[in-house]
Amino acid sequence: MEENNNIYPIFDRMLSRSDKESLLGQKGIMVWFTGLSGSGKSTVAIALERELHKRGILCRILDGDNIRSGINNNLGFTEADRIENIRRIAEVSKLFVDTGIVTIAAFISPNNDIRKMAADIIGKDDFIEVYVNTPLEVCEQRDVKGLYARARKGEVKNFTGISAPFEAPENPALTLDTSVLSLEESVNRLLNLILPLIKNNK
Ligand code: ADX
Repeated sequence: MEENNNIYPIFDRMLSRSDKESLLGQKGIMVWFTGLSGSGKSTVAIALERELHKRGILCRILDGDNIRSGINNNLGFTEADRIENIRRIAEVSKLFVDTGIVTIAAFISPNNDIRKMAADIIGKDDFIEVYVNTPLEVCEQRDVKGLYARARKGEVKNFTGISAPFEAPENPALTLDTSVLSLEESVNRLLNLILPLIKNNK
């Protein structure tokens, strides 16, 4: 029989989330953007991070193209791969949130089940869902990466909004249409929502 004598659990000696939050003077939360490709998720996430950073708040952005060229570079866009993509992102995000960091994710995360999985992993109380509901026509017109045109020609399979579904969230904390709102206005609405949740006076 194998011996367990050499195992020394160290969890009880690890500092807690609230120790980290006190150190940072903020609370950790997850700001989860969902929306079509080209809807403006990353742009808004980056602008939000800058504004929070200016106010002395430590943030971490995770976004589609960066994560998919690193930790998730073995995943594509089948349903199963999208689930695994979001599962890993949620697990990584949880580590940041548990470190007291304002964690900002910008992924299509195209349906309620996938977003619920993320919320369950991270913890519902820490999970703020933001729906970037810029209309498909506008995203397609922007076509920053040229992927909509390629999807229309059938060169990109399973493209969200064209040949793969996007299910709108049922109860987002905030909805932002970047074809109507200025970037500044979107960020202001986010700050109004988020700042009261992350205050932690040292
Ligand atoms: S998710 O559906 O798994 O949440 P994620 O946000 O990581 O998607 O990646 C989306 C980005 O991958 C898009 O912005 C786009 O640049 C690129 N992409 C490449 N192929 C596809 C596809 N078939 N469907 C959607 N996005 C794609």
